Amino acid sequence: MSKVILAKRIAEVMERNARPMNIKEIASYFPSKPESTIRGRLYRELKESCQRVSRGVYTFLSNDGAAFVVEGDGRDLSPFDDHSIDAIVADHPWYDPVSNSGRNRHFDSSYENTSFRYNTDDFREKARVLKPGGFLVEILPAENENNYKYLYELKIMAEQCGLLYYSKVPWKKGNYILNTGRKSKNTEDILFFVKGKARSLRIDKQRGGKMSGTAYMLPTEFDFQTKPSKKRIHQAEKPIELYEAILEAITEPGEVVIEQFSGSGNLGRAALRKGRIAILFEILKENVKKIRDNLGVPELPLLLL
Ligand SMILES: C[S@@+](CC[C@H](N)C(=O)[O-])C[C@H]1O[C@@H](n2cnc3c(N)ncnc32)[C@H](O)[C@@H]1O
Repeated sequence: MSKVILAKRIAEVMERNARPMNIKEIASYFPSKPESTIRGRLYRELKESCQRVSRGVYTFLSNDGAAFVVEGDGRDLSPFDDHSIDAIVADHPWYDPVSNSGRNRHFDSSYENTSFRYNTDDFREKARVLKPGGFLVEILPAENENNYKYLYELKIMAEQCGLLYYSKVPWKKGNYILNTGRKSKNTEDILFFVKGKARSLRIDKQRGGKMSGTAYMLPTEFDFQTKPSKKRIHQAEKPIELYEAILEAITEPGEVVIEQFSGSGNLGRAALRKGRIAILFEILKENVKKIRDNLGVPELPLLLL
């Protein structure tokens, strides 16, 4: 079998499976070929049509986008190579009983009694796997009297790891208002960081080509209605439209985005609509099931890294 024919067959296998596959699995379709030959075809003839998502794992690129679920710790980015991921989105697991007091709010049991706090290693890892100029988006609660120091420390940690402050855009939750604590609340903050000089995503109308920065000028706020809490799949669920706006700002079609703490999996739905490839981490089994149902493909295989 010539190199080109083998490459074509490999592409057919990957397209049929429509999910990331590791080299061993791909090679099992071609018993007479060593894994090194398969790797060679993926590196050469298929480098445009198969995207490498982590060490030894590839996915076929289609314009339809793709979403994969990993049941596990999204802080552990060790399966990913240096400079291999186009963008990262992280919706910080948060439990803030003090500033939300006065309501019987049901927080996710996974972090209800734990204090999830980033440390410098988290940002070092995010910076390691991001491609130069790639964006990190951190979704964080609006600043208040309890969290302001940590929110500041977090930006400093990011900077120390080479993730520079790019911009902050509040997400306004439409007409949803939570009246607890000192101030009525209806925003969270979307922080954009960039690894070094921002990549060129924005069309330069005057000179042609593209210039450094997000694909469009970020707005003063993202205003997308949140669902009523009873209709949410996850109490911290973000609207799909918000994720679409974020993905369009920081990635191009066909690019790979990791969501470290996925909850409902809505980022995956946005990726499918916008032709991006999303790798969704979620630590809780029951949430992983919700994500798979939400994506409409309950049989979607878990991506084993
Ligand atoms: C703020 S919620 C995410 C909500 C999500 N952005 C959405 O739109 O539905 C955080 C999620 O992260 C999960 N989580 C907490 N720690 C985690 C970890 N170390 N790795 C992966 N997921 C984690 C929680 O179970 C929770 O579902």
